[in-house]
Amino acid sequence: MLLIPVNEIKPGMTLAKPILRADDGLILFQNDLELKQVYIDRIKSLNLETVWVLDYPRTNEPDFLEPIKKEIRMKATSILRTTFSQLKEQKNLDIVKLKNLVKEILDYILSDDRIAYTIRKIDAYDNYTFTHSVDVCVLAILIGSIMDLKRNELEILGVCSLLHDVGKIFLDFRIFNKPGKLEPIEYEQIKAHTRAGYEFLKSKENLSFLIPHMALQHHEREDGSGYPRGLKGKDIHRYAKIIAIADVFNAMTSQRIYQDPVPAALAIQEIYENTPLKYNQDVVEHFIKIVTPYSKGIILLLSNHQTVEVIETSRKKCLIRVISGFNEGEIYNLYQKPQLHVVKWLD
Ligand SMILES: [Fe+2]
Repeated sequence: MLLIPVNEIKPGMTLAKPILRADDGLILFQNDLELKQVYIDRIKSLNLETVWVLDYPRTNEPDFLEPIKKEIRMKATSILRTTFSQLKEQKNLDIVKLKNLVKEILDYILSDDRIAYTIRKIDAYDNYTFTHSVDVCVLAILIGSIMDLKRNELEILGVCSLLHDVGKIFLDFRIFNKPGKLEPIEYEQIKAHTRAGYEFLKSKENLSFLIPHMALQHHEREDGSGYPRGLKGKDIHRYAKIIAIADVFNAMTSQRIYQDPVPAALAIQEIYENTPLKYNQDVVEHFIKIVTPYSKGIILLLSNHQTVEVIETSRKKCLIRVISGFNEGEIYNLYQKPQLHVVKWLD
């Protein structure tokens, strides 16, 4: 049984409690009544705020769609793992395979503008470099798709994102997973993955010049505090600014050996607080439109003392169900209650 706003009632739902006339308590609509449009119009005219129904309607068209299907994600991770190990063995870079993969991801993302990015709960220590690169690719394409990038530009951005960290294959992988503080010399080694990736990709024929340059530039920051060259805003390529945000967001929200994942909303907040100092304002404004701060299934404590579960999320909606506190069972869109804020993540 759920308490829902009157403007959310749909034909086919069943009333869970009778609706009474305010003046004298006369029953206007019985419980167990299946609602037709004519009843809904009448209920709306009564100026009620909420009604009790048996269940919330599941529409055939969900507002939320995965930004990339599980099968494509698994295929992408496996292609990237094979590509990186072949490169390590000095074999050729199969750029056509990567381009086709990016086209598949792009076709899916461009097929529906409801698609948003939501973080997944995964423990993938060994796979991190590959899953991370696939996630950065998806995020970068999503950001680029709502900016003014054309299809061929999005394809190149996608390939740049898949290969942004390729330089790591020439370094000792263990250093990237080291728990605790890094020694200065180790940090220098980590920074070296940018140049290593650049030199390697530059040596390949028939590659867009952007691909090695994005491997080189993705850790540069607007104020010049990044590496390896300390470039400032105007000298950093737009794609590198997009990849930087996708990279940082995914790194913060991923489970690592040395770090528990940061909730998406906090990662977004941290990126926002470092804008425009470190990150490009325009890219960040677009980024926050395509990521969902709270993912499905997460339990939140709100400032009105309600404990709620996120049941659906998209670019415009964060539907929550109250699981304890007043109005238990009520469902509403958190984005339509700007006076409320999240006090704590309970799960
Ligand atoms: Fe990197």
